[in-house]
Amino acid sequence: MEQQKTVLLGVTGCIAAYKACEILRLLQKAGVRVRVVMTEAATKFVGPSTFEGLTHERVLSSFFGEGDDPIPHINLAHEADLFLIAPCTANTLAKLAMGVADNLLTSAALACTAPVMVAPAANVNMYCHPATQANIQTLRDRGVKVIEADSGYLACGDEGKGRLAEPQEIVDEVLRQLGVAKGDMQGMKVMITAGPTIEPIDPVRYITNFSSGKTGYSLANAAARRGADVTIVSGPVAVDAPVGVKVVRVQTAQQMFEASEREFPNADIAIFAAAVADMRPADCAPNKLKKRLDAEALKAIKLAENPDIIASLASGKTKQTVVGFAAETQDVIENARIKLEAKNADLIIANQVGNGRAFGTDGNEIWLVGKEGTEHVPFMMKPELANIVLDKILQIRACN
Ligand code: PMT
Repeated sequence: MEQQKTVLLGVTGCIAAYKACEILRLLQKAGVRVRVVMTEAATKFVGPSTFEGLTHERVLSSFFGEGDDPIPHINLAHEADLFLIAPCTANTLAKLAMGVADNLLTSAALACTAPVMVAPAANVNMYCHPATQANIQTLRDRGVKVIEADSGYLACGDEGKGRLAEPQEIVDEVLRQLGVAKGDMQGMKVMITAGPTIEPIDPVRYITNFSSGKTGYSLANAAARRGADVTIVSGPVAVDAPVGVKVVRVQTAQQMFEASEREFPNADIAIFAAAVADMRPADCAPNKLKKRLDAEALKAIKLAENPDIIASLASGKTKQTVVGFAAETQDVIENARIKLEAKNADLIIANQVGNGRAFGTDGNEIWLVGKEGTEHVPFMMKPELANIVLDKILQIRACN
């Protein structure tokens, strides 16, 4: 039997420290043993007892008075197959770059001969400061794997780069580095539609919906991490493209249809997560419609039907496993079953929308509606849901 891997999880003092709990759980779910070392500042954000409860192991933040081990930094370093520091503050990045060992965590890092990974988190100005960027580069040059921070709204109120990368993304990197990443989609081609479509009324107005693309992009990221060759056909979104995934950018349903038509024949798995506008304005006015002068035209916009992308492609499917979504405000499962038939799909992911659910959120609750029955998946983060959906798809393929 393969020996269980140990990750030493270093937690430093910033607001993102609570996300280390999720990282820890995801690593444990993947069968990895996790030991935690904290800076003293980190303990002000999350108590060591939280991590002790999760790991059932002693959590240390100081050389002195916390246990019987006289050389804890050396022993922690020896135990690790990989040392992950997440979140890693700008201060700890600087110490690591300089080889400063003034606390248990940085001392363990200096003593560690296993691969070291850092996932920085900081205010945008601290993160982008030339000193921090130089420290990151120094660490990279030294072979430390740096998992770039994400962009977005930061806890301090600023907006920009500095948010800790998604826990699932961090864990995927760790598992890959440890050689325990799931490679169960190796050799498979996956196409995924994602995000909304926008249907122009005139050069300044359009019809669209609230899809953020998070669901489609999470699926793409998870499939790529599991070894698949992934293409996203994406409506306009603000989500970063996952590493190693091809993105074909479109705006309208017609463009999404044409791009999907090109990708579908080569795909083994086709997932239709996009929220496609069923209708578009029949004519796009060449000039801006004026509120007063064109009031009648604005009030009487005629609509034309868009192609049903999934139904059209799935009707001619050969080797493809076809997965659709059903976004419903009521009778969720019943409507999803109808879509399973109508779209010639192998699986429908049903979700309830409205009242702030599903669209644009970081998490969701779904039902997997297949030919053999329905499975409920309770609310969880979209990157986690993505892996559950992929597990289900592989299970369906194995039975066919
Ligand atoms: O992007 P997020 O913010 O993460 O939000 C996720 C989501 C709510 C968009 C996603 O979970 C979801 O439900 N996507 C499908 C939304 C939708 O359009 O559902 P529908 O029930 O109207 O369509 C059924 C299926 O047909 C879907 O797979 C859809 O992609 C597909 N479709 C619909 C119309 C059309 N003209 N062509 C299609 O291919």
